[in-house]
Amino acid sequence: MITLSEFIIDRQADFPYASGDLSRLLQDIGIAAKIVNQQVNKAGLGDILGAEGTTNVQGEAQQKLDVYADEVFINSFLRGGEVCGIGSEENDEYVAFDRPLSKKGKYVVLFDPLDGSSNIDVNVSIGTIFSIFRRTSSIGDTANINDFLQKGDEQVAAGYVIYGSSTMLVYTTGHGVNGFTLEPSIGEFCLSHPNMNIPEDGKVYSINEGHLNSTSKGVQAYVEYCKKADASTNRPYSARYIGSLVADFHRNLIKGGIYIYPSTKSAPNGKLRLLYECSPLAYLVEQAGGIASDGKQRVMDINPSELHERVPLYIGSKNMVEKALAMLEEHDAPEKEVEKAK
Ligand code: AHG
Ligand code: MN
Ligand code: MN
Repeated sequence: MITLSEFIIDRQADFPYASGDLSRLLQDIGIAAKIVNQQVNKAGLGDILGAEGTTNVQGEAQQKLDVYADEVFINSFLRGGEVCGIGSEENDEYVAFDRPLSKKGKYVVLFDPLDGSSNIDVNVSIGTIFSIFRRTSSIGDTANINDFLQKGDEQVAAGYVIYGSSTMLVYTTGHGVNGFTLEPSIGEFCLSHPNMNIPEDGKVYSINEGHLNSTSKGVQAYVEYCKKADASTNRPYSARYIGSLVADFHRNLIKGGIYIYPSTKSAPNGKLRLLYECSPLAYLVEQAGGIASDGKQRVMDINPSELHERVPLYIGSKNMVEKALAMLEEHDAPEKEVEKAK
């Protein structure tokens, strides 16, 4: 059995000049994940369920576990010293660490401490998503906003933890995707899913169909396509929507599928945040052979302009996402609209 720590150290050889900082940072994430996992697992007991009574910058009610997970990860990064600052869903602004050790840190981390908050109180899988960049400011300086506003292609590592029927950590450093399952008896993440690849085709589509009437013609046409019987393409597909991005993504990564969070009338940029939801999952899916797009361009190519920026997301199996994008092109392209109007 290979543990996460052993694997990370073995893989350091992929980076000939590595000093070990990234390896230590990934190990810190593994430890923080175990601490959060403990609380998630006993969330029905004690006083950790329910709302914190506060809202985050996006106007969403914060759950106690959102705030707890945020603190656990931040403390772990502060202790480790490899990180000079963080950006998180639960913090209005980025946080520049002012400890002298942290100011020398080479990396910044953007993260969603608990994804799927609405599922916490009903015992459904939730997760943590993280994205790691090399800082752009000088080592020793205080981190600034430009360290965080980097496009997905600049990520040095990304991953997620899923607190599900078992707890898993899945990550990439740009050399494929590997998944580790927490073995509770020894308290270690162990390599269970080496070199993960997403099937090119799948039979599952995941979208909140409650919003379908307020999405574009292209999205509506694609969902209709998913439901239409056609034996040669395994249709109709099955609908699966957990409402925890991490859990929906994880299932599709293993079994094949497409996840869509489109633009809607009330949310023109969708709901999901570029820097700590879409971008890290885009890195993972591409490393696994899939595609991530905002409907117009590759998610990894988007230059962020603000910390909590939202973008629509089409992510998953290559052939399924390509088909969805082709249908958006066919039904939503502005020139087509003009032609139709004529
Ligand atoms: P978070 O709990 O971190 O705010 O994220 C919730 C996200 C994501 O996990 C999920 O896929 C999506 O919200 C569900 O949104 P809808 O309820 O609008 O479908
Ligand atoms: Mn989220
Ligand atoms: Mn969250």
